This record gives sequence, C-alpha cells and structure tokens, in this order.
Amino acid sequence: MNKILVTGGAGYIGSHTVVLLVEAGYDVVIFDNFSNSSKESIKRVEKLVNKKIELIEGDIRSKDDLQKVFDAHKIDSVIHFAGLKAVGESVEQPLRYYDNNVYGTVTLCEVMAKNGCKKIIFSSSATVYGDPETTPILENFPTSATNPYGRTKLMVEEILRDLYISDSSWQIVLLRYFNPVGSHSSGTIGEDPNGIPNNLMPFIAQVAVGKREFLSVFGDDYDTHDGTGVRDYIHVVDLADAHLKAVNKIDDFSEVMTINLGTGEGYSVLDMVKAFEEASGKSIPYKIAPRRAGDIATCFADPSYAKEILGWEAKKGVKQMCEDSWRWQSSNPSGY
Ligand code: NAD
Ligand code: UFG
Repeated sequence: MNKILVTGGAGYIGSHTVVLLVEAGYDVVIFDNFSNSSKESIKRVEKLVNKKIELIEGDIRSKDDLQKVFDAHKIDSVIHFAGLKAVGESVEQPLRYYDNNVYGTVTLCEVMAKNGCKKIIFSSSATVYGDPETTPILENFPTSATNPYGRTKLMVEEILRDLYISDSSWQIVLLRYFNPVGSHSSGTIGEDPNGIPNNLMPFIAQVAVGKREFLSVFGDDYDTHDGTGVRDYIHVVDLADAHLKAVNKIDDFSEVMTINLGTGEGYSVLDMVKAFEEASGKSIPYKIAPRRAGDIATCFADPSYAKEILGWEAKKGVKQMCEDSWRWQSSNPSGY
C-alpha cells in the first residue's frame, strides 16, 4: 500500500485523518514540529488503530528535516496540514505566518520535487471567500483575504497552481474547509487549543465543562435568522474521510482540483449553544458582546462538487458534532 506523508499529523485535523488512513490500510509517516500539538495525540492515535506510527520530528521550513523523511521512506503522496491558523495572531505576527505557512510550503514542494514526489493535498480554508455576496458558496466564487492568515492560504493556492502550470506531472488538490468541529467518537483525541480558544466550539465546550464562566456571543445584529453569525460546521471525522477519498482518487485528476468541504447547512451561534446544551445536559451561559472585527454574517458551502468529484458528502450532523466534542472535553478537561 502507498505511503503517505502527513505534515501536521499530530494536530487536530491531522490526527483524525491519520486514524482513517491507517484504518484504510495506508502506511503513514507523521511530520510535525509540535509547535501547536503534543506527542500524546500520536500515542492516542496509535492506541486507536493498534499500530505504531512512524514519526519524524521536524519543521517544514527545514530542507534537511524534510529530506530525512524522503531518505527513510518512499513517499507516494503528501497531505499537508502543517501551518499556523490563528487569525488574530496572524494580524500581530504577519511575518511569522508568511514564513511558516508560505515559505514552509514552498520548501516542502521543493524537497518533494527533488525526491520525485509530486502529489499533494493542501489544507485551504473557506476564509479565502472573504465576505461572499451570496450563499451557498461555490468553488468559482471570487476570492479575497481580510487578514494575513487568509492571505497565506490564498498565496499557497496560487503557488500550487503556478507549480502545476510549470510541470503538469504534479497532482494537486486544494481542500477548502468550512468550520471543522467535533472529535473522534472514542473521545480520546480532539481539539486542544492553547490558552483561550478563538473558535466557537472549543469555547462552548470549555464553558460546559466549567473552565470558563460564559460565552461572549460576538454580535446579535447580523442579517441572519436570530442575528448571530451563521457558519457551516463540519464534523472532523467527515473532513478526515474527505482526505482519504482525495488520496484514493488523486491519480485520476488531470488539473488542480479545488474543492469545498462543508455540509451545505448553516447554523447560528445560538443554534450551536442550544445543540451543545442538549448534547451535554449542561447549561451554557452567554452574554451578547460587540461584533468581532473581520467577522462576516453568513458562510456556508455548496458541497455538491465534493460529492461529484470525490464521491464524498458529510454524514454527521450537529447533534453528533456536539456529542463527540462533549465526550472529548468532559473526559479530557485539560486537553492532552
Ligand atoms: P493544528 O494547529 O491542530 O495542526 C497543525 C499542526 O501543524 C500542528 O500539529 C503543528 O504543530 C504543526 N505545524 C505547524 N507549523 C509547522 C511547521 N513549520 N513544521 C512542522 N509542523 C508544523 O491545526 P488544525 O486545525 O489541525 O489545522 C490543520 C490545517 O488546516 C492548517 O493548515 C489550518 O490552517 C487548516 N485549516 C484549519 C481550520 C480549522 O478551523 N481548524 C479551518 C480551515 C483550514
Ligand atoms: N463566535 C462567538 N464567540 C466566540 C467565538 C466565536 O460568538 O467566542 C462566533 C463568531 O463570531 C462566528 C462563529 O462564532 O460567528 C464562528 O466563529 P469561529 O471563530 O469558530 O470560526 P470562523 O468562522 O470565524 O473562522 C474559522 C477559522 C478560520 C477559518 C474559517 C473558515 O477560525 O481560520 O473558520 O474555515 F478560516
């Protein structure tokens, strides 16, 4: 079976994807510098799949670190999750984001090409659609960025398209995730944010478990059904499954593929609070706060292209997202 290099494989989405890849019979090598993750996540993945997983500790900005992977393994394709992802931090430290996400990806591609590996699946984001004029969002909608993090995603997309133009033997898939939430049904791996969570679901989960007093709802005057922001929350295991399907199909693609990964349904902040209360049996106190700078009212995918191209669609609904997220949070109140 083919060997897959998973950069950022110790992180939230990477760890869930590794589980599915190994279960499907792929050999996996994880490459991570643990800047936003811990080795414990890999130990737990190994327990889930009952198999030792190859790990090479290193930084995607280091050719030497990356070359160690290709010296030790015959890699068929790369799933590239490694990157920094905090929007606010990217505004404060833009150079760190461009260095890590853009330079890191360029370095990765250089080392891949040198070693004759030209298949890459890249973690892009719905953030590349900026503030869309209409929803649901199709892949051919105009793109724009409102912060350095989003700009790194757009830049990498463009760089990978240029790479393909220069050498069409590359096989490239750009996956644009909507809002990944939830965790593996075992509750043993999940999202483990550093410090105060920026994102809604981990914040709600920490309120439910008693680590935070209340949720600040950022704005209740948006043009949505209850005034709070609407997003397309997607279960991380569904997202992981889309990567498995993309790896399975990558040899069939003869152009750069750009694919939305969402459910096609939008839920508001207050919808999610209610769903989490039902799943956890806990009450989630909240206060209405001012809008967060840069936020948009509504964002949800048209996921029909993913169905057509990958034969993939999201199967898990909001109830399961909340139940699984609660299982992870309540059994690991301090994360890993
Ligand atoms: P994460 O922070 O949990 O995982 C990223 C992993 O990459 C971490 O284990 C981190 O240690 C590693 N890493 C970072 N920089 C590295 C470097 N220079 N060298 C080696 N390893 C490095 O994040 P995640 O939520 O799993 O996201 C994975 C990818 O998906 C990221 O590229 C992110 O931008 C993208 N994405 C995430 C979301 C989301 O909401 N979670 C949405 C859209 C896109
Ligand atoms: N929200 C709150 N309170 C909080 C956190 C969030 O009300 O404490 C609201 C936001 O205003 C928004 C919704 O909850 O309406 C979702 O916010 P998140 O921060 O969870 O997610 P975003 O849609 O803002 O952004 C996320 C990632 C981005 C990524 C984008 C699309 O943070 O990196 O999804 O994939 F680009």
